[in-house]
Amino acid sequence: MKTWFVTGAAGFIGSNFVRQVLEEDPGVRVIAFDRLTYAGNLENLEGYLDHERLRFVRGDICDAAAVDAELATGVDAVVHFAAESHVDRSILGCQEFIRTNVQGTQVLLDAARGRNVRCFLQVSTDEVYGSLGPEGRFTEQTPLHPNSPYSASKAAADLLASAYHHTYGVPVVITRASNNYGPYQFPEKLIPLFITNLLEGRKVPVYGDGMNVRDWVHVSDHCRAIRAALERGRPGEVYNIGAENERTNLEITRRILSLLGRGESMLEFVKDRPGHDRRYAIDASKARAELDWRPRVRFEQGLAETVEWYRRHEGWWRRVKVGEYMDYYRKQYAER
Ligand code: NAD
Ligand code: TYD
Repeated sequence: MKTWFVTGAAGFIGSNFVRQVLEEDPGVRVIAFDRLTYAGNLENLEGYLDHERLRFVRGDICDAAAVDAELATGVDAVVHFAAESHVDRSILGCQEFIRTNVQGTQVLLDAARGRNVRCFLQVSTDEVYGSLGPEGRFTEQTPLHPNSPYSASKAAADLLASAYHHTYGVPVVITRASNNYGPYQFPEKLIPLFITNLLEGRKVPVYGDGMNVRDWVHVSDHCRAIRAALERGRPGEVYNIGAENERTNLEITRRILSLLGRGESMLEFVKDRPGHDRRYAIDASKARAELDWRPRVRFEQGLAETVEWYRRHEGWWRRVKVGEYMDYYRKQYAER
């Protein structure tokens, strides 16, 4: 039996990953480690918390003693999702982004270095490459050019992870995925924010001209890619993960409006995000060739199912949306 130490396991992608592993990898035991910040929610693991192959630990990845205590129990792989993940929050203030994304990754790398882990899987993002013009796609050779405090903190973490591979031989594998969507995504990100706003009868705020492009991958396909990278990824390598599915924000918005039977009057153009990246697009041919992975979910179906999921899980999103989510913004505004 293998043991995987999964950080950020109560967040959007981490919880989808843990559920997928428990369902599909009978030879893997999971230590789910999460600080339970505003984005971490144990409801995301409901039905699995008493699973015989899961142990949940509430902890901070910046706490070296807590991390090392877990790795000391014998861990085959570290799967590192934990992060502050929202660009807009990083623009309001990025201290927590540096703390968790950079310092937290350093603490984990040091802990992994002292133990015999077989793989340190650094879950990263295409945003570290910066913004594209109308042509071309990001490959693993594209120079890093992060533009937001969030993506700068992720790039710093990636570079530290690469340096630990080069210097100490820590078996680091980095995955860089495009924008994820699917169930359990916190309703601050585009797709769940817009679905839940419309379900509440509120308008949806489209930044700028709505023509920014993102390359969407379903969270289950991303999680399958990470499992493939854990199995077949080569230490020291980077793998881009994407589903060749570029859409403008306006196209996404119109699809959601149509799936919920709402008209264009619910769409509101608002002031653009400062430094807003124009276009992301991933070339995932290396992952397809080396990891024997390919995406399975067609976007039209995945989006329709996601809308349906939010419709059926109103209690889940209402609790996160009116709770700490709102408190956070109240606090931000009070501090100005
Ligand atoms: P999320 O914000 O939904 O979840 C982050 C989780 O990390 C939460 O459960 C939170 O409680 C936990 N966490 C935060 N700080 C912590 C700390 N100091 N110690 C322990 N746990 C802590 O994020 P997500 O969307 O699930 O993203 C997960 C990872 O995937 C991130 O590293 C992100 O950069 C990367 N990623 C996300 C996307 C996307 O579209 N969401 C795309 C590519 C890569
Ligand atoms: P987001 O989900 O925050 O992901 P990221 O910034 O990491 O790509 O945003 C996706 C796109 O949607 C991005 O171009 C910004 C845009 N957006 C809006 O137009 N309105 C919104 O309210 C939000 C949250 C995002």
